[in-house]
Amino acid sequence: INYTAIILAAGQGKRMLAGQNKQFLMIHDVPLIIHTLTVFVQDTWCNEIVLVTNEQEHTQMKNLLKEHSLIQKVQLVNGGIERQDSVYEGLQAIKLKHQPVFIHDGARPFVKTEHLHELADLVDKKRAGLLAVPVTDTIKQKDNGRLNTLDRHTLWAAQTPQGFAYDLIKEAHNSAKDSGYYGTDDASLVERLHYKVEIVEGSYDNIKLTTPEDLAKAESYVKQGETRKDA
Ligand code: CTP
Ligand code: MG
Repeated sequence: INYTAIILAAGQGKRMLAGQNKQFLMIHDVPLIIHTLTVFVQDTWCNEIVLVTNEQEHTQMKNLLKEHSLIQKVQLVNGGIERQDSVYEGLQAIKLKHQPVFIHDGARPFVKTEHLHELADLVDKKRAGLLAVPVTDTIKQKDNGRLNTLDRHTLWAAQTPQGFAYDLIKEAHNSAKDSGYYGTDDASLVERLHYKVEIVEGSYDNIKLTTPEDLAKAESYVKQGETRKDA
């Protein structure tokens, strides 16, 4: 199954406190966004990549793509204020409209190819799915100062990629835009249309680099990956 990947890199990375967009931070001498793009470039199932950047960094991103010989493989478009606006812009750039569309955070470089393929198969059959892992903490809900304990066995931590049939995700984003609705992920926009979204159980390694502590974790994951390759 072939699929399109929209990779989001148009944020500011404020919580990383790095004084620059975290996408450009080095992990073992390679910028974060290049690590992420490489996973998709190397996946033979992925035959279209749209990279969403912010306007001010467009040239910097373009130069980085050239430096890593990715410029022919990646279509670069400008994003928007919120993540959802960036996805919307990415969707407008898609040329291959008959295949699954994956939406993925540029800040998640450790997604595994086997999970990408599971998701592609699922979206091909069911039209909407996402990677997620079972929640390991007990989650409390605070309602007017009173705590409730949620049943952990029903709770999943959503990750990316989230994958959809092209028509479905276009409809979901258009509908959200029309009503000024902002969701925290793309699946929520599809759920809003009462469409069933399926889960592919992913890996706890598929972290989103968000805070400075995540960088050390990422360094060690990359190192582990290299050791495995050398072995
Ligand atoms: N993103 C985007 N466009 C935006 C906001 C976010 O493309 N307007 C992207 C980010 O670049 C990131 C992904 O969405 O790859 C997930 O968002 P998050 O982890 O929140 O990244 P940032 O928004 O960059 O970080 P922060 O919220 O700490 O500023
Ligand atoms: Mg953000």
